[in-house]
Amino acid sequence: MNLGKLGQALSAREIFELIQAELDLVERRITAESVASVDAVTAIGQYLQSSGGKRLRPSLLILAAKLVDGERFVPGATAIQLGAVVEMIHAATLVHDDVIDAAETRRGRPSSNVKWGNHTCVLAGDWLYMQAFQIALRERNFQILDLLIGLTQMMVEGELLQLERIGRIDVTEADCMELVDRKTACLFSVCARLGALAGRADVQAQEKLGEYAWNLGMAFQLVDDVLDFTAREKTLGKPVGGDLREGKVTLPLVYALECATASERRLVETILRERSYDGVPFARILALLEKYRGIQRVKERAQAFTEKARQVIAEFPDSPYQRALLTVTDLITERDH
Ligand code: IPE
Ligand code: IPE
Ligand code: MG
Ligand code: MG
Repeated sequence: MNLGKLGQALSAREIFELIQAELDLVERRITAESVASVDAVTAIGQYLQSSGGKRLRPSLLILAAKLVDGERFVPGATAIQLGAVVEMIHAATLVHDDVIDAAETRRGRPSSNVKWGNHTCVLAGDWLYMQAFQIALRERNFQILDLLIGLTQMMVEGELLQLERIGRIDVTEADCMELVDRKTACLFSVCARLGALAGRADVQAQEKLGEYAWNLGMAFQLVDDVLDFTAREKTLGKPVGGDLREGKVTLPLVYALECATASERRLVETILRERSYDGVPFARILALLEKYRGIQRVKERAQAFTEKARQVIAEFPDSPYQRALLTVTDLITERDH
């Protein structure tokens, strides 16, 4: 790959090549750190690690570290450790989330709650959180702990807020945006900030990278909400239409409901009550979204967030890492899983 090409967008493969060495090290760290003295916890950790997953959060962290510290070919041990930390926190949220949502599938396989049961998964999720914090603690850096603790509380509060809204049709655009922020954007933002910290960036660069990644995360979760309606289960790795079946009214539907007639509203209420598509087929909901441009409007919102992310990252000097972060914004909005 010619890293000297100025200003050209990178392909997904080129981005991956830029950070492959570090991602391999992150993976080895996760394997080494996921061993508990109780076999079930180790098995759940390994099951999740081996089941795929895009590794977006450590990738973001490492790209941010290399962007601000481009001199060194391989970023220091801190970036690798923190890459493992954020992926393990992500894994912990998924284990707990699948218990809460009574999910059956994750990453194209039976979810951990199906294989090990809720009780074991709650405790395994706790263990994963604590192991991640223990790795972070080794850095002896209060700023890192501050970021991670604030983040975890934000995410847990997000899950609690979502629980309160389960089954409700009166969800607003602002409610949705708050959940998108808490569920995904705040973790993305912390990943980039931690990368900036690991790369010894100044406060201003840390904040800018955090802002970039926050916008990216907002777009990512909005696209996730769209994919829940539009994707194919095989590509998505989890059932399509799952949000509404779980009683969650997400932004595409909020937009459609703003214009829906009383009888159309009742269709949504039926699904929320029955928690299945037996009474009202999923196709009726897709037709409603089409009629009122629910999907289209959310895609436009996602585009606006990625546009903002691009503006922020464009302020950094041109480098392969800066171009990679620019390209990531397109990959997020064009993704199919
Ligand atoms: C899943 O995140 C949870 C959401 C925030 C939608 P990802 O889509 O990044 O999950 P994996 O790690 O690639 O499976
Ligand atoms: C994602 O929440 C999990 C967290 C980020 C806490 P969702 O319940 O909306 O996502 P999926 O559909 O299970 O991945
Ligand atoms: Mg879920
Ligand atoms: Mg959930």
